[in-house]
Amino acid sequence: MLKIEELEVYYGYVIALKGINLQVKEKTITALLGANGAGKSTTLNTISGLIRAKKGRINYKEKDITNEDSSKIVKAGIIQCPEGRMLFPSLTVKENLLVGAYNRNNRTEILQDIEDVLTLFPILSERKKQMAGTLSGGEQQMLAIARALMAAPQLLMLDEPSLGLAPKIAEQIFDRLIMLNKERNLTILLVEQNANAALAISDYAYILETGKIGLTGKGKELLQNPLVRQKYLGT
Ligand SMILES: Nc1ncnc2c1ncn2[C@@H]1O[C@H](COP(=O)(O)OP(=O)(O)O)[C@@H](O)[C@H]1O
Ligand SMILES: [Mg+2]
Repeated sequence: MLKIEELEVYYGYVIALKGINLQVKEKTITALLGANGAGKSTTLNTISGLIRAKKGRINYKEKDITNEDSSKIVKAGIIQCPEGRMLFPSLTVKENLLVGAYNRNNRTEILQDIEDVLTLFPILSERKKQMAGTLSGGEQQMLAIARALMAAPQLLMLDEPSLGLAPKIAEQIFDRLIMLNKERNLTILLVEQNANAALAISDYAYILETGKIGLTGKGKELLQNPLVRQKYLGT
């Protein structure tokens, strides 16, 4: 579905991505892992058209979308759930969900989808009229994912959804991602520092090391790999 070839990205004169190759197959969960500063967010932001690539190609469904306008990329169905959630704190839960559907115009479908995401995240249903800024961290992350779903993604990209959450809450988030993938066939590109949890739920994974892909492989195989265990899982 998505194929990245030899992608190079700079911030000014400083190189952030040194020619990375990565593929996301349809209906899979693909994880992009790596330490702080490895280039994970840069990768997602470049796919989304928020940062320009200097070299390389990003193909989506056989079409070149490198350096395409971000609005076009959203229209094509690539939706990013950003690091740090980026909700509108003084809008209600329901209003944040409506904002997520800004790229769509069929009101009946939008209202149906609001009901649908509220069923997916029942806690948000209870908090529908509450301001997003007053939600707990876990609830805010659920809302950020629900809002991304309101854009009707074909490829959902999540930037560190478990960041700052208690393990139990993070687990609930990962459970929802598995459900979206298995029951709804949603394709997911998952960026995480939490390698253990991400490898456990991903079909395929890539490990970024300061702008270069180090190891790649099946999620469960990397989880067993001694090198990965020592370097990324602390065991
Ligand atoms: N806006 C920016 N200006 C300059 N350098 C940046 C900017 N954003 C990120 N970087 C640098 O690019 C590298 C990759 O950052 P990032 O993609 O945010 O990493 P990650 O998401 O893996 O933590 C880091 O060295 C970071 O300091
Ligand atoms: Mg990041």
